[in-house]
Amino acid sequence: MKLGVNIDHIATLREARKTIEPSVLEAAFIAKRAGAHQITMHLREDRRHIKDEDLALVRKLIDLPINLEMAPIDEMKHIAIANKVQRVTLVPEKRQEITTEGGLDVVSQINYLKEYIKDFKEYNIEVSLFVDPEKEQVEASKFVGADAVELHTGKFAESYIKKDFMLLKAQKQKLRETGTLAKELGLRVYAGHGITYQNIVYLKDLSNIIEELNIGHSIISNAVLFGLEEAIKKMMGLMNW
Ligand code: PXP
Repeated sequence: MKLGVNIDHIATLREARKTIEPSVLEAAFIAKRAGAHQITMHLREDRRHIKDEDLALVRKLIDLPINLEMAPIDEMKHIAIANKVQRVTLVPEKRQEITTEGGLDVVSQINYLKEYIKDFKEYNIEVSLFVDPEKEQVEASKFVGADAVELHTGKFAESYIKKDFMLLKAQKQKLRETGTLAKELGLRVYAGHGITYQNIVYLKDLSNIIEELNIGHSIISNAVLFGLEEAIKKMMGLMNW
């Protein structure tokens, strides 16, 4: 499986102070150096973390494909095309939510999405739809002309936190079935949300179905903890006057 690294939280931290560090560009550079296959950024309508300048800079200076998560609205379409991103992932977006809570309801906006997606073809931008692992959503994704689906692993991740292994097994089965269906329909299959060092092991045997995982929160959380000792020592070294 490939790994897409979501760097939104780097920008969230920067925005907590509205200052210049940590640098989103530097984070993308480190992800590239570490071997990530792709960089994901979610440009939200309210610009609460990633800003337009972050996207433009990372796209220009980092030699990795960009997966732009965005709401299916005209403003974002123009931005994606202007930046020539390699992939867009359409997600539902609610202003009050902390993170993307559920998958995109493709079924209920089938005509709108079919029309919306057309323009990306012209610019050779891959279109992925972030959907719950439901058969109807996968079929609708094919119908509207998507190239790929990203299966929402939120419920799978939650079941691990609750230590509900029956639910985990059921969620995994859903990922397997809907992933297989998507593949049969000719869609590429990605997955993400809530993946951690602990629960990722349960996805190992889906590696012939899921091509890529998109992971953000856990990677950035571990980076903060594992990097903390070094950061403190560096500051103390500077105070050694
Ligand atoms: N995929 C999509 C579509 C997302 O919205 C997110 C969260 O921004 C992720 C993957 C990554 O989820 P997490 O931050 O929980 O790893």
